[in-house]
Amino acid sequence: MKLQQDGVTVWFTGLSGAGKTTISRNVENELRRMGCRVELLDGDIVRQYLTKGLGFSKADRNENIRRIGFVASLLTKNNVIVLVSAISPYRDVRNEMRDDIGNFIEVYVNSPLSVCEQRDVKGLYKKARAGEMKHFTGIDDPYEEPLCAEVECKTDLETISESTSKVLNKLEELNYIRSMYLMQASQ
Ligand code: ADX
Repeated sequence: MKLQQDGVTVWFTGLSGAGKTTISRNVENELRRMGCRVELLDGDIVRQYLTKGLGFSKADRNENIRRIGFVASLLTKNNVIVLVSAISPYRDVRNEMRDDIGNFIEVYVNSPLSVCEQRDVKGLYKKARAGEMKHFTGIDDPYEEPLCAEVECKTDLETISESTSKVLNKLEELNYIRSMYLMQASQ
């Protein structure tokens, strides 16, 4: 009988301030509560270690994403549910990660630029508008929207809890967490 969970990478992409970190942390907490093995790779944190020194040119962002994707693929193979939270603005490289990793769910954390800018949690949009930061995603650097994300969270229109549920429901629909429910039920 197969009690082991299947690994999968859940890839959260979207503008800075769209809500990727908040939703992925909530999903992480819920999965841990259910007893799943889960790891969160957040761009802001990964950039202090694994990808320290990389900047925000297209080449550096893609290098950041490929290194994150490499770790995600190893963990996924070892039956971990991996949550990646990174702007990951370039569609081609996201699709490359999808192909490399295989078990892959793309979550588009979608909030209009105007809303992200209004939130401006880190004060970076203000700096970008003032010209103090160059190549800021959405201001003077591109963001390529996903064309076929498995989940879209419209964070300007739905609550954090609704967005979190959408992701968990998709994991259940694709049978990544069903076995955990069964395990709990059979205990
Ligand atoms: S990615 O483009 O390479 O995927 P990543 O998610 O790791 O980006 O890091 C984004 C974070 O870096 C933002 O949340 C923000 O705090 C910070 N940051 C610093 N400079 C920039 C920039 N030019 N564009 C976007 N984010 C930036």
